[in-house]
Amino acid sequence: MKPLIFTHHASPNLVKKITQQVNGELAQSENHEFPDGESYVRIHNDCSSRNAIIIANLHQPNPKILPLIFLCETLKALGIESITLISPYLPYMRQDIQFKPGEGITSRFFAELLSTYIDKLITIDPHLHRYNSLDEIYSIPSTVIQAIPKIVSWIKTHIEQPLIVGPDSESEQWAALAADMIQCPYIILEKKRLGDKNVQVSSPQAGQYKNRTPVLIDDIISTGRTMIKTAEALVKEGLSAPICIGVHAIFSDDAYEAMKQSAIQNIITCNTVPHQTNQIDLSELLAAEISALN
Ligand code: R5P
Repeated sequence: MKPLIFTHHASPNLVKKITQQVNGELAQSENHEFPDGESYVRIHNDCSSRNAIIIANLHQPNPKILPLIFLCETLKALGIESITLISPYLPYMRQDIQFKPGEGITSRFFAELLSTYIDKLITIDPHLHRYNSLDEIYSIPSTVIQAIPKIVSWIKTHIEQPLIVGPDSESEQWAALAADMIQCPYIILEKKRLGDKNVQVSSPQAGQYKNRTPVLIDDIISTGRTMIKTAEALVKEGLSAPICIGVHAIFSDDAYEAMKQSAIQNIITCNTVPHQTNQIDLSELLAAEISALN
């Protein structure tokens, strides 16, 4: 039987593409918020012994989580066989240790919560910094998709003579892989974060690549300051204004405006979080993973 596809704040375009590619059935559900802020959910499909796929956009997660839990509980009560959550952007991954005494490790709390309600998780480039794998915090099976092959295709089509730049040590995993696939050089810069919007970046080895177009690759663009400061450092070294590619278009507060006014030539993102900079479509990668489940 076709999987039942539910959408939870996901881009209609992404949901449509995935539903077509996996030959799923778009579920008929009603979601309503009462005037007092409480949530209502009703599902019109016969769920017994079927598999549900929830395609969610969990950027700005807090108000979305309780309704997601209610949706999962309702599906289970209606006899659904299994629930797979597709969360292209996986939130609550950055608080992965106690940076200061007394802090809650929210990545762990969030993982434990989600693991209670879903049976499988599919996501794209989660922020695995101090965890090696989602299995360290999620007790359900999970699949991690890498956006790099699609990012590499975009770079190959649009940029001649690229220099791949990773703004910090965490980004080396993507930068090194992309450079290897493109067969071009890469450099990793040194970043110090002094506050949410206070970032320092230095680019000791950049000067030798003045004949190339710098292409910055990072997983998350949040305040944009990492990209802005990296661009400034490269331009100061005599390189041209860089192209910035982020997997997840978070763009908190004034991030997008600040980036547009900086030394950045162009901002490109993948469609894991809907934004006008989405130019790299990952629906095929998600659909392939969903099809592999059946
Ligand atoms: C670092 O931990 C991440 O990989 C990104 O570099 C970071 O989240 C970017 O944040 P922002 O845009 O706020 O500088």
